[in-house]
Amino acid sequence: MGKEKAVVEKAAMSDGGHIITGAQSIFEAPDPEKARFDLNENIFGPSPKVKAAIKNFVDDVGVQWYNAWMRKQCAEVIADYAEVKTKNVFVCNGSAETLVVIAEVFLEPGDELLTFYPTYRVLLNYSKIYGSNIVKVHHEKDFNADNLPRKIIDKISLKTKIIYMVNPTSFGARVPRDEIIAVLEKSQEPPNPLVVVDEAYYDCATYPFSNKTVADLLEKYDNLIVTRTFSKSFALAGLRIGYAISSRHNTESFNKLFSPLGVSSIAYVGAMAALGDPGYYEEVRRKVESNKAYLAEELVRMGIEVFPSYTNFFLAKFSEGILNDNDNRKGVWTRLVKEGIYIRNKSVMYSDSNLCQDMVRITVGERDDCERLIDKLEKILKDF
Ligand SMILES: Cc1ncc(COP(=O)(O)O)c(C=O)c1O
Repeated sequence: MGKEKAVVEKAAMSDGGHIITGAQSIFEAPDPEKARFDLNENIFGPSPKVKAAIKNFVDDVGVQWYNAWMRKQCAEVIADYAEVKTKNVFVCNGSAETLVVIAEVFLEPGDELLTFYPTYRVLLNYSKIYGSNIVKVHHEKDFNADNLPRKIIDKISLKTKIIYMVNPTSFGARVPRDEIIAVLEKSQEPPNPLVVVDEAYYDCATYPFSNKTVADLLEKYDNLIVTRTFSKSFALAGLRIGYAISSRHNTESFNKLFSPLGVSSIAYVGAMAALGDPGYYEEVRRKVESNKAYLAEELVRMGIEVFPSYTNFFLAKFSEGILNDNDNRKGVWTRLVKEGIYIRNKSVMYSDSNLCQDMVRITVGERDDCERLIDKLEKILKDF
């Protein structure tokens, strides 16, 4: 028996995100022979300017210094990109830890966290740690998110402390901006909940063609918190840097809790350099869009259902019962792993719902890997 809180002791390992299910890549270092389509990384990698800036920093400045001076510098560059003021930016270690800080600052026992479900789990896990209850608005069977904000409004109670909406959703759908605004309007009434919009995938594939941020509404709604990351569109998942955009009051509260030395120098340098090369990332987005269209077309041709996506990944549904292993034969997912093609097996992820039965999530990668996936899948499907 340890001395941990009961909530920690009782939590399943996967509850804290320590085990990531259905993703072979979590066990392996990247390998050029493998198509790593299962962790929603940006497979195209960061801009060459990022690599050069990191190298120059290490050579010219060095990593032996505490780096508090870089914090404001980086917030300024992010503010410029996000078209907000520097005082409205809180920089943190990835958006995962940004969400942890939000939970630490706001959640108390008895509060309610009102959220789409299933969703990205970090804020949910931490709400349990702080004794708050999770109130769920379940995703629709077709993963369309148009009506979810209205359902959120219906579930606001006097205990609602935070409303959490991921946009684009964890299933790749877009939440209409007007519907988010309806939630923000409703949140101006008691109990005046905070509205956290997780825009982790905002600047991925379809930006600027269709994704719409709500960061511009900051002046109007001081209870709005937008979280973003450099892990996805900017291909810096290993550097661990993300940020929140919110009122000055809120960013100050976050900074009271978070160490001014909390983010690594290399992460600041990488993030600032990435924002300095919009042309490179625009090119990546175009490739992702084109490869996504190719994959969708080929999968549909093979009779696999494909769901609309506003991000660098999409959901696909196989015919019943062929995805997973059974006593008599290996399923499609295991066979693809054996071929070095890793896609996320969503069917094993949500034990409390069968929403994702027979489903996978595929991150869009380089064209030759996409072609290899289609080629291998076509051969594998002949056995079923
Ligand atoms: C919706 C969402 N939010 C936040 C994150 C966290 O990203 P990071 O901590 O790498 O910034 C992820 C990562 O998968 C995500 O899917």
